[in-house]
Amino acid sequence: MPTPHRRPTLRPLLSALLLIPAAGAGGSAAQTTQTAAEAGSIEANARAVLAFGPRVTGSPANEQARAFLETQLRALGYQTQRQTFTSPRFDDLGSGVQVAGQSLAGAALQGSAGGTVTAALVRVPGAGTAEDYRGLNVTGKIAVVKRGVTAFAEKARQARAAGAAGLIIVNTEDRELRGTLGDPEPLPVLAVRAGHDAALRPGATVTLNVRVRQGEVLAQNLLAFRAGTAPTVLIGAHMDSVQGAPGANDNLSGTLAVVDVARRAVNTPLSARAYFVLFDGEEDGLLGARDFVKTNPELVRGLKGMLNLDMVGVNAAPLTATGHPTLTALARALPGVTAVEGRESGSDHVPFDQAGVPTLFFHRGIDRNYHQPGDMILDPALVRGTADATLAVAQALTGPGN
Ligand code: BES
Ligand code: ZN
Repeated sequence: MPTPHRRPTLRPLLSALLLIPAAGAGGSAAQTTQTAAEAGSIEANARAVLAFGPRVTGSPANEQARAFLETQLRALGYQTQRQTFTSPRFDDLGSGVQVAGQSLAGAALQGSAGGTVTAALVRVPGAGTAEDYRGLNVTGKIAVVKRGVTAFAEKARQARAAGAAGLIIVNTEDRELRGTLGDPEPLPVLAVRAGHDAALRPGATVTLNVRVRQGEVLAQNLLAFRAGTAPTVLIGAHMDSVQGAPGANDNLSGTLAVVDVARRAVNTPLSARAYFVLFDGEEDGLLGARDFVKTNPELVRGLKGMLNLDMVGVNAAPLTATGHPTLTALARALPGVTAVEGRESGSDHVPFDQAGVPTLFFHRGIDRNYHQPGDMILDPALVRGTADATLAVAQALTGPGN
């Protein structure tokens, strides 16, 4: 039975966190001096990978990070494999709106059509539901709605159904809004910050300019396992990040926790029962996990558990493990873990859950830098703590009698 998508409460960053800042321009793994003991530690890995930059699917940094961690997993004695799939690429080439001689910057919603439309502006009251359009004539005009209440795709659908020629979504906060429409939308759709709201006067003639490029890139999941393993547990995290965010917490934190579990599993029975997977294309719609489930049906059928680690390096909330009762029962016994039975959307466990695999989603809530340029810090101790809990659940699941 699906439960609603729950979001933990937002909490400010604790100043006491041990911070790992992204290295500045010019920093690289090769230039970092490390002692033998430091090499391969969560801290050293965080520094090295953050220096590559945002790991957007299909980008050079994405591949550099994968190659770096692949080398490490192989050095631990694991066999590695890459599974390739395609991921849509959407680029905003610079979009905005001109009104009364003013140029307002905006961000095209992912999936929006490109185009330049000059037309009168109509303020639609509210968030742009079907009722909000009642009694309004927006045919051939540019509709303006507020963020919230309904999904971006639904706002676009309603604007299109009402005959609008374009749509502007005003953010509830005075900062850039990068949203996604999911499926391709025939209408140009632009998001602007709350501060631009007042300039968008009803009846004004505006020029909406949405400049986008749509294409495809190759994406790769990285798998690590001991040769010959038919896994009972899959431990995974997405390694890709969104454009413009270094992705320290989302999700280098989960990635490094997976690598740490793999490291500690060496020479233990778990190493012969587990697959470790670094997913790609998560931020584009859980594409790596979907591809994995589709291309490895037999392997997926044999799984007793899929443990997904996403955003575990900043304590926005206590470490939470949400999922299937058989797994939450194991997690509940662990110190510092809040186990919650149920389903959450929004990360790579979802396609496994849909395929009938018991899943457990480890996270520490949403921090204030989520999908922002400020997502450049993670706390190695929190990553390590998550690896402890993941290792314990994985060992219990694959231990004697299982
Ligand atoms: N890391 C997030 C999911 C998440 C949110 C984990 C909060 C822990 C706490 C993930 O990368 C993400 O942004 N997911 C999207 C949906 C996805 C299909 C693009 C989301 O939740 O909106
Ligand atoms: Zn994530």
